[in-house]
Amino acid sequence: MSDKKNSNKSDVTEKIVSLSKRRGLIFQSSEIYGGLNGCYDYGPLGVELLRNIKEAWWKEMTYREDVEGLDASILMHPRVWEASGHVEHFSDPMVDCKSCKSRYRVDVLFETLSAKNKKVVIEEILKTDSSLSDSEDSMKDFFTNDPNPYLSLLVCPNCGNKETFTEARSFNLMFKTFIGPLEDSSNTVFLRPETAQGIYVNFNNVKESSRQKLPFGIAQVGKAFRNEINTKNFLFRTREFEQMEMQYFINPADDDKWFEYWREQRFNWFIKYGMDPAKLKLHVHEKLAHYAKAAVDIEFEFPFGWGEIEGIHNRTDFDLKRHTEFSGKKIEYFDDQTKERFTPYVIETSAGASRSFFAFLCNAYDEEEMVKENSDGTSSTETRTVLRFHPSLAPIKAAVFPLVNRDGMQDIAQNISAELRKNFKVFYDDSGAVGRRYRRQDECGTPFCITVDSDTLTDNTVTVRDRDSMVQERINKDNIQSYINSKLS
Ligand code: GAP
Repeated sequence: MSDKKNSNKSDVTEKIVSLSKRRGLIFQSSEIYGGLNGCYDYGPLGVELLRNIKEAWWKEMTYREDVEGLDASILMHPRVWEASGHVEHFSDPMVDCKSCKSRYRVDVLFETLSAKNKKVVIEEILKTDSSLSDSEDSMKDFFTNDPNPYLSLLVCPNCGNKETFTEARSFNLMFKTFIGPLEDSSNTVFLRPETAQGIYVNFNNVKESSRQKLPFGIAQVGKAFRNEINTKNFLFRTREFEQMEMQYFINPADDDKWFEYWREQRFNWFIKYGMDPAKLKLHVHEKLAHYAKAAVDIEFEFPFGWGEIEGIHNRTDFDLKRHTEFSGKKIEYFDDQTKERFTPYVIETSAGASRSFFAFLCNAYDEEEMVKENSDGTSSTETRTVLRFHPSLAPIKAAVFPLVNRDGMQDIAQNISAELRKNFKVFYDDSGAVGRRYRRQDECGTPFCITVDSDTLTDNTVTVRDRDSMVQERINKDNIQSYINSKLS
């Protein structure tokens, strides 16, 4: 947010939600039926932004010698999820308020406490368990413990009552469905809750077909599904979302080195695509998932607070060994040089495409107060809403306008649009004052506005106006494509 104008932070989320609908970034799923909780549709501009993020990730992660791509099916053999531990462990502790019947995840309840109440709860817990640290992250982790003796300290955010919670119960987050016509337990399959397992079960296939040697990675972008108890904060926690995951297979002796390497690569990727470094931080996990030896989250400062956008995990040989055990098929690596045979370790980079979308959107959102000269010589201020996307992520790369609709300016502008459209999304607009056309493009993040004016008719030049600086420069119209290409690269 520019410091020229600082909106209240909770306002910002509302403004982003409203802009997303108005400009066709995000719609509620099945909106005409009242919506479906935790599910969203990407509109005409949203789908472009999402594709650009996934494309940027794909190029970064797979256009290298040591990483191969994969697109595994969403439905997998049910034994996969027994081997992975998801059937047993992939659950959240959940409580119901006996008074108002609201249902909550226990750790989320802790997050909803006021700062004052949080302090009281933390002090109370530390009195009995001094081994814990008093950081909020440590407390959030602590509240996912099951059973939890401190539930009575928490307040129901809906009705405000205390000591009305049921005992915590485990709730498995995987969606179940049936394969074939018979709806019985022998035909149960799950919608994958992570894309990673599709990669592990294909380790031998990819290694043999690509003839890769360790260390090498397998990357995949795809849908994942979790029956989250509480969806919240727009796109942050949804029931259907997309992940961008890469599993890097290594010699166990090198795990620390590769963990550090990928942590740095992934942190820098967000900065490369325009994320404000002050809004990014790392959070090292104290409480680890059942498969992990080390884990660090890349967190982004959303308008509602810090939240994870990507996890980097040292998953050891847990998954490959479990699949060997459950399938009876060996998943190993033979090193030709050292003549060693071993199960590789895995360093995982796991980003949410949908969550990154939301982070890039929040990062880009800005309101700028500008002085406007009026026709009567007076001046007034107006607010310019602008999405400052990195040009390669922007849904529309260029807008083309004829300054006025006469003297053939429309035809020239249409021809420029048609030419540019061969390479990216372009918007042609010949209606309204040119200032208003600029504002419409600023609001959806179009980095370049090209205007055909009377000079174009004589010297073949156009103006290119930069979204962020609003500076206009004149360039030859035959150079527009190369001008934009240079800004995208
Ligand atoms: N394979 C490891 C794994 O799935 P995770 O931390 O559970 O790890 C990785 O998820 C990323 O997936 C998160 O950092 C987040 O960006 C995204 N993600 C997870 N649950 C999500 C949800 N309910 N809605 C949106 N994105 C989610």
